[in-house]
Amino acid sequence: MQPAATTPAAPDAHALPRADEQPAPPTREMVAILDYGSQYSRLIARRVRECRVYCELLPADTTLDELRQLGARGVILSGGPDSVYDPGARHVDQAILESDLPVLGICYGMQLLANQLGGRVEPHTGRREYGPAAIHVLPAGDDGEANTEALFAGLEPAAQDGLRVWMSHGDSVGELPPGFVPVARSESGALAAMSDGRGRIGIQFHPEVSHTAQGTAMLQNFLYTVCGCAPTWTPGAFIEEAVERIRAQVGEGRVLCGLSGGVDSAVAALLVHRAIGDRLTCVFVDTGCMRAGEPEQVVETFRTHLGIPLVAVNARDRFLARLRGVTDPEEKRRIIGEEFVRVFEAEEDRLRETAPFAFLAQGTLYPDVIESTSADASAAQKIKTHHNVGGLPEGMRFQLVEPLRYLFKDEVREVGAALGLPEEWVWRHPFPGPGLAIRVIGEVTPDRLDTLRAADSIVIEELRRAGLYRQIGQAFAVLTPLRSVGVMGDGRTYASMVAVRAVTTGDFMTADWARLPHELLGRIANRIVNEVPGVNRVVYDITSKPPATIEWE
Ligand code: XMP
Repeated sequence: MQPAATTPAAPDAHALPRADEQPAPPTREMVAILDYGSQYSRLIARRVRECRVYCELLPADTTLDELRQLGARGVILSGGPDSVYDPGARHVDQAILESDLPVLGICYGMQLLANQLGGRVEPHTGRREYGPAAIHVLPAGDDGEANTEALFAGLEPAAQDGLRVWMSHGDSVGELPPGFVPVARSESGALAAMSDGRGRIGIQFHPEVSHTAQGTAMLQNFLYTVCGCAPTWTPGAFIEEAVERIRAQVGEGRVLCGLSGGVDSAVAALLVHRAIGDRLTCVFVDTGCMRAGEPEQVVETFRTHLGIPLVAVNARDRFLARLRGVTDPEEKRRIIGEEFVRVFEAEEDRLRETAPFAFLAQGTLYPDVIESTSADASAAQKIKTHHNVGGLPEGMRFQLVEPLRYLFKDEVREVGAALGLPEEWVWRHPFPGPGLAIRVIGEVTPDRLDTLRAADSIVIEELRRAGLYRQIGQAFAVLTPLRSVGVMGDGRTYASMVAVRAVTTGDFMTADWARLPHELLGRIANRIVNEVPGVNRVVYDITSKPPATIEWE
């Protein structure tokens, strides 16, 4: 799941319509990545998109016919944990390998190429080769032009000690398939790259990870030179196409869009607005658990600044009344999710009296789609029920409009910026659907929410002031139920403890605590105890995820 930014109006993964109910994926120049289960598969997709070529991550058993239908110009076979000789090992459709489609096999993908085209893979006997390594690209030899392999063309000349790459494999290719030549070898002489000179290339290392110097240049060589793709996947091109698609889907219909305050729903709304203008109505539900000034900011940005029709519903009392006395985190999530649906439905009924809405726009992102369709979504994703929060029930009578369904988060930000979304929104940290209710540990009361809001504003303000906001994945304050003794002026205090959490992360599935400068932490702590009544102690959370989670509840 794209874990972080599931917006209040986003569905849980399971509520997504089945793939066959979705409009066909975009028909543009694309490259397919077949997923053999590597931890890096998604990273390959992101890197290819960074090269401005559209790609999709598809199941390992995708057939040549399916690739043709999608208009694939080339195929990347990812790495993976299997060994080609395992009984249950995944294979690639032989027809793909025998077609004229360029194929780049990475790691396990290279072994598939070798194994299925008549070479031999040597089962690993010793240690897995894992970590940084150096490879040497072989000079063009007697065996013809094939050695001046396109993949390595135009790279900065490697130093004496070779090209730095990242290896992670057990098995390796022992005998080349007919028609292939060696292109690069590792220090020990092992085969690091092979090619048949006709667009089928295997590499034993991972060009997608940043430890492979010039990995992006190699991917660009494959995409631009070998596959013949052009770097046309730009925000502008995406916007144009998305607008056309929305118009085609919606026709003269009207669209409702739930805004959460996050970047995904905001960008979805902007795209739909660009496509159909004021036949879009946005609904923002103020749950009473938003951050300081947030509801006002949503109204100001959307209604005033961007000129988008927006209905803001103040439902604070309803939410807070239902949360009274509740301390269990999952119960809080359930209540907020349920109440959100009720409020949203009531609002929709009211709006329906003037004009019916047949469509609901949502900020579903590509990682949500990958996750909901992948067979082996990891158990870690199910630790909290967070992706249900704010999900709308399957029975709702809308057709979904999901213009961001094929975008990664960084692409959403780029598109948002191109659509004029203010910078502050574009780079906003994700905020969970249940909001501050799961950051006030224990009972959620108006007073405790106020305390947390004040502390949280200080954390964010200081982080921005230090110029570190963008480098941090997520940062916030937590109001703990602990009280401790302190001293202020001449008096003893017995007051609340606030925890500060700041993490760096790529995908929010794992995270590390941010090494914030001590001076910054000191300033935050000092300001919180001085400016927020009822708080006399501040601690900084230095646990990574796993074993902890990012949120405290
Ligand atoms: P955890 O705490 O599971 O959080 O490490 C990972 C990411 O998910 C966000 N999160 C939620 N998002 N509803 C949401 O929409 C939720 O109930 C929820 N719980 C956690 C969290 O903020 C982080 O970005």
